[in-house]
Amino acid sequence: MGFNNDGAEIIAEQLKRVRDRIKIPVGVNLGKNRDTPNPEAIKDYEILFKAFEQTASYFVINISSPNTPGLRDLQSGEFVQSLGARILHHQISQPVFIKLAPDIETEDLRSIGALCGDKKPYTGLILTNTISTDLGGLSGYPLKGPSTALLRLARTLVPASVPIISVGGIETAEDVMERFTHGANAVQLYSALIYSGPGLPGHILRELQSKMRRKGIRQLTDLRQY
Ligand SMILES: Cc1cc2nc3c(=O)[nH]c(=O)nc-3n(C[C@H](O)[C@H](O)[C@H](O)COP(=O)(O)O)c2cc1C
Repeated sequence: MGFNNDGAEIIAEQLKRVRDRIKIPVGVNLGKNRDTPNPEAIKDYEILFKAFEQTASYFVINISSPNTPGLRDLQSGEFVQSLGARILHHQISQPVFIKLAPDIETEDLRSIGALCGDKKPYTGLILTNTISTDLGGLSGYPLKGPSTALLRLARTLVPASVPIISVGGIETAEDVMERFTHGANAVQLYSALIYSGPGLPGHILRELQSKMRRKGIRQLTDLRQY
């Protein structure tokens, strides 16, 4: 749909109100406008950083949504490096993550991964966005395999110190444990909320706690096998 919405300023106001009421971290996901040509995309992201500087706990650069034509073409080392230079220039104080598509080229993943880490413009990666199909982005269960596969590949290409947030088809405590086994530092879920409702994260956390207690696991990162 090309990110149809009320515009950054109104959204920032709404988010600020929510944030003032409930003290939780707010990740702000930024996508360029549908009608902004790719050579001018950096300007859009700069405007968005500014609009959300008071609101965001962390930022996500979305260059992987299949529903905005041409957006995924920005998944290149060249673009991400140019945007990174602007992030350093503006001294963005929040962590900035880059969100990628499950079918990104290995070389692009490698060069984008090299821009993440301490003293680099990006904090880490979010893997993955939806699968591109003729009907739009495909999320949920069918994404479980491709998302996990890209996480595993990324862990062979980017330093262990670079955080990776895994997303795509996560529905259960087992799914969460599997992602940590393959090197995730955190997880997100979206589609599963449709089937299980807003109580799902609490349910998964309780399940995780009892599984970890049973198996003597102190922290999820102890599960890492890579
Ligand atoms: C209706 C819908 C809207 C989405 N909008 C965005 C978006 O604006 N930006 C983004 O980075 N990802 C977006 N996504 C992708 C999700 O954030 C997530 O990466 C993907 O759905 C995989 O996770 P899941 O299988 O748990 O849904 C959207 C997904 C769906 C289904």
